Amino acid sequence: MRVLVTGGAGYIGSHTVVSLLEDGHEVEVVDNLVNGNAEAVRRAGELAGAEVPLHEVDLADAAATADLLSRIDVDAVIHFAALKAVGESTQKPLEYYANNLGTTFSLLAAMRENDVRTLVFSSSATVYGEKAPVPYVEDFEPLDSSSTYGQTKVMTERILTDVAAADPRWRIALLRYFNPVGAHPSGRIGEDPRGIPNNLVPFIAQVAVGRREKLSVFGGDYPTTDGTCERDYIHVQDVAEGHVVALDAIAAGDAAVHTWNLGSGQGTSVLEMIGSFERASGREIPHEVVARRAGDLPAFWADPTKAERELGWRTARSVDDMCRDTWNWQSQNPQGYADA
Ligand SMILES: NC(=O)c1ccc[n+]([C@@H]2O[C@H](COP(=O)([O-])OP(=O)(O)OC[C@H]3O[C@@H](n4cnc5c(N)ncnc54)[C@H](O)[C@@H]3O)[C@@H](O)[C@H]2O)c1
Repeated sequence: MRVLVTGGAGYIGSHTVVSLLEDGHEVEVVDNLVNGNAEAVRRAGELAGAEVPLHEVDLADAAATADLLSRIDVDAVIHFAALKAVGESTQKPLEYYANNLGTTFSLLAAMRENDVRTLVFSSSATVYGEKAPVPYVEDFEPLDSSSTYGQTKVMTERILTDVAAADPRWRIALLRYFNPVGAHPSGRIGEDPRGIPNNLVPFIAQVAVGRREKLSVFGGDYPTTDGTCERDYIHVQDVAEGHVVALDAIAAGDAAVHTWNLGSGQGTSVLEMIGSFERASGREIPHEVVARRAGDLPAFWADPTKAERELGWRTARSVDDMCRDTWNWQSQNPQGYADA
């Protein structure tokens, strides 16, 4: 298939570009580079031995998006483009709603106009909110989220469901990812956060490489195995491969909206993650347990059985693999793509 990857210059998008190319698809990327990097697209193409066109377009601009879709010829879209910083989203709700919903509106209108109705959407475990029982199962209702970022995912899932109800030719996959970490095993592409990392593993990696002094562990008195929060970490390569199998499945199956968790089904605590990273890097990670952070849930993970049953997909890589590959990327690129 010819696949347009929105947000393909970002972390998960660039890894998915490699997996799509390796699976025999042709790929084009659209990204406004607000949080992505053209070098990531170049390297993704290089890893798979292909040239990947990068269209620098703001997808919240409906006219520019319509123009792009009219000029390129694609069969399907994987929609990663979004702003994703949970804390920032609560400070800047208008910007987050405008960008994350605006990109989706422009894209859906342009896809419909050009008769493209196959879409894979990046949703998130955050849509399960605070009331879902652990492990999280896809049919839980009602969806909710405590952050503006999370609400954009809840709303986009609803918008896509309504669009498909009105026109049953749409084939849509809503993929709810848990906590993607790791990097391509080559160390050529990886996560390159701007400013202070919002997520645990990029922060640990920057401490290990000497860019930051120490890690704050938020809360050591949760009702978990060692008192620190537990999350379901998933290797970004597993996430990328999940997109390829989901795309292949919806393209081959009946028109419908499908929801699949992409998670490992296991919780890993902050202290376990630090230990694994110390083993992978051979470096000590200075850290200090501080007060809990408002809004953090103690522990959650996916029930991954639906994706396994329906897609034949399950995670293949361990937490140690995630730490090894993150360290490989970070130690080869201490300043991320700025080293290029
Ligand atoms: N990383 C995670 O932990 C995680 C977890 C669950 C879901 N997700 C979702 O997965 C997707 C990809 O996440 P990521 O971690 O790769 O983030 P990322 O920031 O690395 O990638 C997103 C890309 O979208 C681009 N973008 C944003 N707004 C745009 C616009 N208006 N027009 C064009 N391009 C635009 C950015 O420049 C960036 O390259 C996002 O939708 C995110 O919400 C991520």
